Order: sequence, then C-alpha cells, then structure tokens
Amino acid sequence: MSENLATVAYIGATILFIMSLGGLSNAETSRRGNFYGMLGMTIAVVATVLGPRVTAAGLPWIIGSLAVGGAIGVYAARKVQMTQMPELVALMHSLVGLAACLVGFASYVDTSVVYTGAEKAIHEVEIYIGILIGAVTFSGSIIAFGKLSGKIGGKPLLLPARHWLNLIALLAVIWFGAEFLAAHDVDAGMLPLAIMTIIALLFGIHMVMAIGGADMPVVVSMLNSYSGWAAAATGFMLANDLLIVTGALVGSSGAILSYIMCRAMNRNFISVIAGGFGTGGGSTPTAAAGEQPAGEVVAVSAVETAELLRSAKNVIIVPGYGMAVAQAQHTVYEITKLLREKGVNVRFGIHPVAGRMPGHMNVLLAEAKVPYDIVLEMDEINDDFPDTDVSMVIGANDIVNPAAEDDPNSPIAGMPVLQVWKSKTSIVMKRSMASGYAGVDNPLFFRENNRMLFGDAKKMLDEVLVALKA
Ligand code: TAP
Repeated sequence: MSENLATVAYIGATILFIMSLGGLSNAETSRRGNFYGMLGMTIAVVATVLGPRVTAAGLPWIIGSLAVGGAIGVYAARKVQMTQMPELVALMHSLVGLAACLVGFASYVDTSVVYTGAEKAIHEVEIYIGILIGAVTFSGSIIAFGKLSGKIGGKPLLLPARHWLNLIALLAVIWFGAEFLAAHDVDAGMLPLAIMTIIALLFGIHMVMAIGGADMPVVVSMLNSYSGWAAAATGFMLANDLLIVTGALVGSSGAILSYIMCRAMNRNFISVIAGGFGTGGGSTPTAAAGEQPAGEVVAVSAVETAELLRSAKNVIIVPGYGMAVAQAQHTVYEITKLLREKGVNVRFGIHPVAGRMPGHMNVLLAEAKVPYDIVLEMDEINDDFPDTDVSMVIGANDIVNPAAEDDPNSPIAGMPVLQVWKSKTSIVMKRSMASGYAGVDNPLFFRENNRMLFGDAKKMLDEVLVALKA
C-alpha cells in the first residue's frame, strides 16, 4: 500500500472514530456507533500492516502477535461477566500504558533514525513524557484492577505526608528529565530514564492506592483518559498521526466522562486530576462515621409486592448492581410490560454510577428491550418521587441512600441520590441487610414507608411476576 493510500485510509478511520463517539452518546444510536468504531479500527489495522512502514520481514511477527492477542481478546470477551467489565477495562488500560513504555524504550535505543538539534530534543521529550504517562497508567491500572476485583482491599491507603511525597516525586521527575535531555548518548540517558520510570510506576501505585472504594468509578474513567494520552504519546514517538488523533479522542472523552462522574458523585474534578482525592469517600464502615439507623425493618413477600404494584398508578423502578448480578433485567421487563398493559405508568430511574460501570443499567435494560423513552436519568426523574405510589429498588443500595443527603458524616455525604423514600411506598429487593459498594449502612431500610423483599432479585421477581399474572 502506498504512503498516499495509507494516509487516505487513516483519514477515513479517524472520521469513523469520531462518528463512533457521536453514535455512542445516545442509547438508540449506540449499536451504529460501535459498528463505526469496529470498521474504523479494521481499516486502521489493515492500512498499518499493509502500509509502507512495515517490511516483509516484520509481517510474520505482526500477524503472529495479532493472532495471539486476538485469540486472548476473544476468549476474555466471551468469558467475562458483565459485572466484571470494569476490571477488564482497567486491565486493558494497563496494557496501553505498558505499550507506551515499551515503545518509548524501543524508540530510544533504536539508532536506525538519527535525530539532531531541535528534532533530537523534541523526540527525547516525546519519549520521556510518553514513558512517564505510560508507566503511571500501567501501574495505576493494575492497582485499579486489583481493587475492583477485590484482590486488594477498597480502603484508601494514606501514607503520612503523601502530598509531600508526590511533590518530591514530581520534582525528581523534572530533574531526571533535564539529566536525560543533557545525556550525550543512549547509555548515559538510560539511567535517568529508568529511574523516572520507577518513580512513575510508584506514583501510579500510590495514586490509586490512596483512593477509597466508593471513588473507584471516577478512577476507572480517569485511567481511561490517561490511557488515551499514553496512546497519543506513543503516536508522537512513532510519528503516527492516526494514533495521535485516536489517543486524543480517548483522552478527552475519558476526561469528559470523569467530569460527569465527578458531578454525579459530588467530587471535585481538579482534585481528581491531581490524584489526591477520595479520602472522604472511601469504603470506611459507617460504624465509625455517622449514626446507626434507627427504626424497624418490615419484610414483605412477593405476593404482597405484586399486590402493591397492582394497586399503584405510578411506579418507578430503580435498578442497581444486584439486578446485574442476578441477571434479572428480562423479568423486570416482563413485569413492566404486564403493569403497563394494566394501565400503570412504569418508568425507570437511572443513577449515573448505578452498577459498576458507566451506563451499566442502560446496557442491561436495552438488552432486555425496555423502551428508551421510559428510562430516565436521575435529574429527569428525581422530582417525580413524591407523586409516585411505589418505588421498586432492585439490587441497588448506595444510589438510594438518604444518608448521602441527611448525614454530613457519612462517607457518601453530598453524593446526589435517587429519592425513593419520598414515594408513598418504597420496596427494596436484596438478599440481606448487607451494605453496598461503599460499605455504608442504609437508613432507607428502616423508614416507615419502606418494605424489604429479601432474596435473589431474579428469583423474587419471577415470583412477583407469577403473582401478578394470577
Ligand atoms: P451497591 O451499592 O453496590 O448495592 C448493590 C446491592 O445489591 C447490594 O447491597 C447487595 O445486597 C445487592 N445484591 C447483590 N447481589 C444481589 C442479587 N443476586 N439479588 C438481589 N440483590 C443483590 O450498588 P448500586 O446501588 O448500584 O451503587 C453502585 C455503587 O458502586 C456506588 O457506590 C458506586 O460508586 C460504585 N461503583 C460504581 C461504578 C460505576 S461507574 N457505575 C464503578 C465502580 C463502583 P445483598 O448482598 O444484601 O443482596
């Protein structure tokens, strides 16, 4: 493939990536968005492999790596549970970071292209920054993977004087950067480069270890953004325009997503970017902070739940992580259809961080074919709870916790929540009194107008459906 044809293919792929992001911004066009993304990536890979910069000797290596990497990817994608998606995404971000580091070192030791003067300085700055971002992304993502999969505890690790440690690390990175640029040959430059890489790896570990469990959603989207910038840095090192553009798209869309998540969780965006946040929102047990909820827990049966639903005019369903675990979305839709046929106004209220990844609930509801027009965002539906007869909370906990509004000492204080307690009756469907992701007790369960339907969400909803049909 000639240089010109490869450039045209790259421009086509870039346009497809932009159209893909546009498509993904709306549930109705997201399938198309995904398709554009896949097509763009296929064009990008084919144009690169057949492009002018790959020699015949390199082809078997590339095809071999594609086969191995592709097989692992297909296996992982088929095996992964929807609820393990954030861990998988974190692991993938770590690979982008690792690739940026390896490409950086490889292009530093590669003497086939000789740079001189300003070009040499620019190339070395690209390498230094690329490895820096890559190493932070790599180690930070590995720790995020550990935390999300429960292999590392969710409690924030707070070293004494940690901000000073970070500042010292930053100054050391700048100092070694100057040493690196002043080095006359590769051998002399390798030491400052290697030391900086170790500092960056330790910084990545420290940054994510210091973040509390409840703030992990923001970390995942932030690392997503970092991985984009790492890819863009790799693009600069390899002088590959498509990689620069794609990395910048991922980097900036990840940053926008982080901002949206911060707003949803009432966290400060700037302190997130700086990496020094989360101490207030960790998964500290509430026994230490806030009061124990008072009141009585009233359990109901599936038949009683069906009774309450049947006599309601307005129902809001609030799904959470437990619905994903139980795979109850299809039964939820069966119940929704039945109630709507009986003239009940059923809608869904979706919290921005419900479940374990952005858009988790929307994906599940779309899979069950729930019409988009009855699926509303938190801001669109929160004012409607006082006019609602029954709010049905399915496997959700933190996102409906009134302590976020009422208890300034709660670790989730200030996080906007779905105000289900304002409806006439709320029914919470979960297996026990256990707390949710943030490890915080939920006073909702003890409210006078709240009922608990204990059991696996799928099993209980099946029973509710049978009772409704009877
Ligand atoms: P959670 O607060 O984690 O609560 C989920 C509840 O589901 C649990 O209390 C659990 O109670 C119940 N459950 C689990 N399996 C169940 C099953 N088979 N049947 C019925 N219930 C089941 O979830 P949420 O309300 O969706 O809130 C999300 C939380 O995750 C937030 O704290 C958020 O910050 C965090 N988070 C979100 C994301 C994103 S991006 N969405 C990413 C990482 C973390 P039982 O054990 O008693 O059943």
